[in-house]
Order: sequence, then C-alpha cells, then structure tokens
Amino acid sequence: MSTPFYRPVGDEVEVFHAAARRGLPVLLKGPTGCGKTRFVEAMANQLGRELVTVAGHEDMTSADLVGRFLLKGGKTVWVDGPLTRAVRQGSICYLDEIVEARQDTTVVIHPLADHRRELPVDRLGTSVPAAPGFQLVISYNPGYQSVLKSIKESTRQRFVAIELDFPPADIETDIVACEAGIDADTARALVTLGRAIRDLDGSPLREAASTRLLILAGGLVAEGLSLRSAVRAAVVRVLSDDPDLVSALGELADAVLPNRE
Ligand SMILES: Nc1ncnc2c1ncn2[C@@H]1O[C@H](COP(=O)(O)OP(=O)(O)OP(=O)(O)O)[C@@H](O)[C@H]1O
Ligand SMILES: [Mg+2]
Repeated sequence: MSTPFYRPVGDEVEVFHAAARRGLPVLLKGPTGCGKTRFVEAMANQLGRELVTVAGHEDMTSADLVGRFLLKGGKTVWVDGPLTRAVRQGSICYLDEIVEARQDTTVVIHPLADHRRELPVDRLGTSVPAAPGFQLVISYNPGYQSVLKSIKESTRQRFVAIELDFPPADIETDIVACEAGIDADTARALVTLGRAIRDLDGSPLREAASTRLLILAGGLVAEGLSLRSAVRAAVVRVLSDDPDLVSALGELADAVLPNRE
C-alpha cells in the first residue's frame, strides 16, 4: 500500500506515536473533512499496523463490533466482529463517529481503554486480551452531539485527546494543491474562499467549508471546469439548500475569487 499523504499541522504525529508506544487509546476531535481519517491512515502506515475502521451508525450494536453467532451450513459458528479481530491481531481499531452508535457499544470499549486492555465477549463467556500493538482510536465531531456524554468519565480520562482543525492557510494550500492536483495559485484562491466562509459571522451553516470540499472543488478545476463553476458545484450548493444562503455564498465566492474567467 502506498504511504498516505498526511501533512502535520501541530504536534499530533508526536502525540500519536507516544500514545501508540504506551498502548493508550486516542480520542480524535475535529469538524467533518478536517483530516481525521487521513491522519489515522497515515499513523497506521507509519507504525506498520493494520487499520480496522468501523463507521458508526445509529443501528450499530455491540454485536456489530464484537461478533455474533451465524448459521453456516446448518451449524452455528462464531464470527468475530471488526473490534474483536483488531484486538486479537494487534491492529489499530478506528471507531469513526462512534457517537452515532447505540449506548451498548460504548460499554464494550471501557475495559479496552484502560489498564485491563481486554474485550469482554459476553456471548462467548470470555474476555479477549488485546495483542501487543492493539490501539483504540475513536473520533468525534464536537459540532455534533457529544459521545463523551455516553463514555464514562473514568474511561474518558484514559484517552489521549488530539484536536484537529482546518490547517493554517499555507498548509491547507499545500494540501489542496497536492490532493487535487492543481497549481498553488488556484489552491490558494480556494483556501481564501474557504476561510472567508468559515469566518462568516454567526454562520447559519451546519458545517463550515471543509478542506475536503476545497479539494473536491480543486478536483473539478483539474478536470477542466472554471474555478467559479467548480466552487458553485462543490462548495456553494453543497453547503446549503436555502436559496438565499446559496446566493449569498455565491456572491461571497465572486467577491473573493480572482477575476480570471
Ligand atoms: N493534514 C492533512 N494532510 C493531508 N491531507 C489532508 C489533511 N487534512 C485533510 N486532508 C485531506 O482532506 C480530506 C478529508 O479528510 P478526512 O477524510 O480525513 O476528514 P475527516 O476529518 O475524517 O472527516 P469526516 O469527519 O467527515 O469523516 C482527505 O481525503 C485529505 O485529502
Ligand atoms: Mg473521517
């Protein structure tokens, strides 16, 4: 697998490596599209560990994480869930947006997040000890409802927290240029617009214009679309359905973007 491109912003790489050496679980905070998933992919790659990613959703139960008995050819067999697999093989298990999942899913991660480092598998009547190298990483978007409410304070205080946010303009410009495959001037224009949208006073937007959106817009430019069309398609119309807001964002884009076309 090729090395995922990750441009460090602060001390997050050092913090993650130190936590990994101690086997400490990591809590990643940050808005959508700021680089959480990419960061974990890069860390797993640097540490030479397999990454097992589980996307939280509202119907997710502990069985989806831990495993269940399934009928196979008339026999009932136990099938490990992704968390159990990661625990057994010493992988990094990334529980993405675990906030979405049901309450019982957070219960199974408690004993994994502290000195016990074991996963209770009630249906098998055992606990699986975590193999060396196992590391739990959970992500959480502070803009949404708090997963931290459903994780016991005693468990939460065993996590090392890393906060990612949209990078400073120069770094974000590098990221957008590199990921979208566009020149630095176009990337800078997109980043300037992104920051202008983020700086809107009392923004009525659900989420700010993320690095991801700017990269998507850049990708359309790389495909030959004008900067203005690309921004309308990948940023303005994506951020809101409200016609007034869409036209206000369009005007902001016209004011901020260079008058090239
Ligand atoms: N520091 C960075 N270095 C390299 N690429 C980055 C960085 N930050 C963001 N990106 C780019 O932004 C894109 C979106 O980031 P990513 O998917 O990791 O966001 P996320 O925080 O996981 O979002 P979500 O909460 O929606 O899952 C990545 O695919 C990557 O191209
Ligand atoms: Mg993600």
